[in-house]
Amino acid sequence: MSDSKGLTYRVEPGGSLHGELRVPGDKSISHRSVILGAVADGTTEVDGFLQGHDTLATANAFRALGVRIDQPSPGRLRIHGVGMDGLRPPAGDLDLGNSGTAMRLIPGALVGQALTARLVGDASLSRRPMRRITEPLARMGAVVRATENGTPPLVIEGRPGGLTAIEYDSPVASAQVKSCLLLAGLWARGTTVVREPGLSRDHTERMLRAFGAEVEVASGSAAVRGGQRLRATPIGVPADISSAAFFMVGAAIAPGSRVRLRDVGINPTRAGVIAVLDAMGARLRLIDQRLVGGEPVADIEIEGSELRGIDIPPELVPSAIDEFPALFVAAACARGETRLSGAAELRVKESDRIAAMADGLQRMGVDATPTTDGMVIVGRTALHGATVDSLGDHRIAMAFAMAALRADGPVRVEDCDNVATSFPGFVELARGAGLGIEAER
Ligand code: S3P
Repeated sequence: MSDSKGLTYRVEPGGSLHGELRVPGDKSISHRSVILGAVADGTTEVDGFLQGHDTLATANAFRALGVRIDQPSPGRLRIHGVGMDGLRPPAGDLDLGNSGTAMRLIPGALVGQALTARLVGDASLSRRPMRRITEPLARMGAVVRATENGTPPLVIEGRPGGLTAIEYDSPVASAQVKSCLLLAGLWARGTTVVREPGLSRDHTERMLRAFGAEVEVASGSAAVRGGQRLRATPIGVPADISSAAFFMVGAAIAPGSRVRLRDVGINPTRAGVIAVLDAMGARLRLIDQRLVGGEPVADIEIEGSELRGIDIPPELVPSAIDEFPALFVAAACARGETRLSGAAELRVKESDRIAAMADGLQRMGVDATPTTDGMVIVGRTALHGATVDSLGDHRIAMAFAMAALRADGPVRVEDCDNVATSFPGFVELARGAGLGIEAER
């Protein structure tokens, strides 16, 4: 029992994963459905909405901005759009909790509105870099103030009619930066162009089109003309590949496992985890590939197999960026060495994921060497039971829970409350699939 560390997972060693599972809805798509639905004309029905703390924070922020959002049943949202200029000044701070996506995307929708808003977050979010959005937004004429360190809270003073389009070469491949600027671009004079060094997830571009906007996409760039209106459209949210990844890795490392993950979004800008596991020798199949609301979806079947270490191709980094905690666990169980570089962004996620994973893996007896922008991991047959700290990062917590499948003793994972940000019901789903996991406070 440890109050300071909140929820602790206690995971029995060994076992395997089985069954047909549907993990919760995609976090990125759920956030975007609320943001675009809020400023669209008409009522947007969302099916499969992720009821995690992050996406509920976005829904509550728009409620505070005067948007009626009903929840007729679990996973369904009805968003009564107020149109491009209909948001209202909020009565108090907008609390975005742990969500970097909310903190970086919502300003894009507010800088052109007749309102002032203050966006706040928890301790982790209050440490995350925001200059990557405040600088280009300022160049568009937006007024957004961060702290001296360039971190939240953000204060936005909307400037209706005061924004000018820019062409922006983003130094990082970041969907949050790209999405923020494309959103702001809807209220700007001229055409806003965002170029990025690698292709980040393109859900905003796809969903803007579904809402009837014209978006020009070329390799490495996206452009949107200001003054367009959005038209409400139904959104079906696929299961989140980033949540599915924990079960993919768990099944891959645990001999005898066989899992089918239903309705998983396999958008190519998100599917790096499939390519990496495939290159490591995982036994994995995509079944029944289809298109749902402009997003590619499939069932993923995966079985336990012997994995081998690889050099992770740098071009796969943006499309696997959220899956490295899970992939590091796969690497720890693979034969030989796995090397990742070019992933310095991992240091500024919900935690420093390079430090958090290296520390926990070392506690489990793994030869894991952090580098400035990646990690070198020498796989081993059995991991040691250990107590590891998730640092309040949902993906670190779930990655180490799965690592227990190959441990020789119990694994305790501390500070797991934030798993609810992206994966409500993780413990129950994992236990049902065969992981010996209990949550205790
Ligand atoms: C997200 C983009 C990614 C990702 C995050 C969600 C999004 O961040 O890590 O979990 O929904 O746009 P960056 O855009 O900072 O790479």
